[in-house]
Amino acid sequence: MSLVFATAPDPEAIPISFVTKSGWEALRASLPAAAQRFAQGHGYSAKAGQFLALPNADGDIDHVLFGLDEADARGADPFRAGQLPGLLPAGTYRFANAPHDVRLAVLAFALGAYKFGRYRKAEPPAVKLVPPQGVDVAAIARAVEAATLARDLINTPSNDMGPAELAEAAQMLAQRFDARFNCIVGEDLVTQNFPLIHAVGMAATRAPRLIDMTWGDPAHPKVTLVGKGVCFDTGGLDLKPSSAMLIMKKDMGGAANVLALASMIMDAKLKVRLRVLIPAVENSVAGNAMRPLDVYPSRKGPTVEIGNTDAEGRLVLADALALADEEAPDLLIDLGTLTGAARVALGPDLPPYYTNDETLALDVARCAAAENDPLWRMPLWGAYDSWLDSKVANINNAPSGGFAGSITCALFLQRFVENAKSWLHVDIYGWTPKSKPARPEGGECQAARAIFALLSERYG
Ligand code: BES
Ligand code: MN
Ligand code: ZN
Repeated sequence: MSLVFATAPDPEAIPISFVTKSGWEALRASLPAAAQRFAQGHGYSAKAGQFLALPNADGDIDHVLFGLDEADARGADPFRAGQLPGLLPAGTYRFANAPHDVRLAVLAFALGAYKFGRYRKAEPPAVKLVPPQGVDVAAIARAVEAATLARDLINTPSNDMGPAELAEAAQMLAQRFDARFNCIVGEDLVTQNFPLIHAVGMAATRAPRLIDMTWGDPAHPKVTLVGKGVCFDTGGLDLKPSSAMLIMKKDMGGAANVLALASMIMDAKLKVRLRVLIPAVENSVAGNAMRPLDVYPSRKGPTVEIGNTDAEGRLVLADALALADEEAPDLLIDLGTLTGAARVALGPDLPPYYTNDETLALDVARCAAAENDPLWRMPLWGAYDSWLDSKVANINNAPSGGFAGSITCALFLQRFVENAKSWLHVDIYGWTPKSKPARPEGGECQAARAIFALLSERYG
């Protein structure tokens, strides 16, 4: 249960009334005369996000007013209630009326209470919410717990979140749900044929590894999740400028989000045989680092020319996807913070997704909208596939020019998926650059909630 939810009904809980500009006049008229004067004196007009604590005769908070966007307003934020934990004084609260979408408002409230406390002990949340009747609190708590896991993993700086620590986090999750856990480390990656994972990670003093977790009844449909676990991305010899390197602790955001998704799947006991694969590496600079124009074999077979050492995410995913693909899963999903181009196209809050499965594409779009976990389909544009041609090898990891960079990355990954019945690739950002309701600045859970909703529909 999320810490923000009160576990027992509380008759003293302070009511929060949600109100829109168009509903304000009617709500105002229903208030006691003193409250009406107080609201007027404070210029309250129920603008979206506008907050007012109405006092009782003793000066304590009697009632809270909170402005919502009009339901059909352009840019209306279904997570607006996520601002409340940052505004409310300590206490226990309840919803006095229904916001536009109660479930999303409760979820937003809990997500908005998140603080990263690893290095500066935060007080336990002083704001509590009595969950409204009729919402599935356990389901919301599951999503909040998963988001907290993803955010904490991403926010933890790279010195405390290297390949070994990421593997440890995965192992802890595996233990909690009795999943099988295996990890291939360092030189064993070469002997067990993961040349690309090894090539990317070998320059770091912290050994690269491939995390492999399985859970559930082997007779159930096979769902495999693959997450990019680049614990820090310097760019390698194609070194990033410092401004671009500054947030590269988040380059394991794909791994963090597949772990969040796995935790929801296992907690909800979905009827799947789950497998989670995470190539965990650090893209570093050293004398033995892979170089531009080096050529490496891949697990699947094709030789790969390194056009750019900073296109490392697709390299480690290629070997992990190849392994996943060997058992022909029913559904293969990979998440990764793969390209700056995805941000140029759609910005930080709207990750592009790719699939050739039309039914899956529609289901993803619908679930993303319903969960307010936005995703936008982009094409696996076959005509650009030849841009990946290399003059010396079977494929190049970074077409020159950079046009359609997120698409060409997806096309690169597609070369390593052949047997999976259905494949979904999401180029996430995993980061909120500037805080918004329910989305504090820093590491973010992206795509996991939408995909969990889809899997629950199919395998619940
Ligand atoms: N981790 C980055 C992608 C990234 C960059 C995500 C900025 C979020 C913000 C990835 O490894 C990368 O460096 N990609 C290159 C690919 C290019 C060299 C083909 C990029 O996007 O510039
Ligand atoms: Mn990179
Ligand atoms: Zn990267």
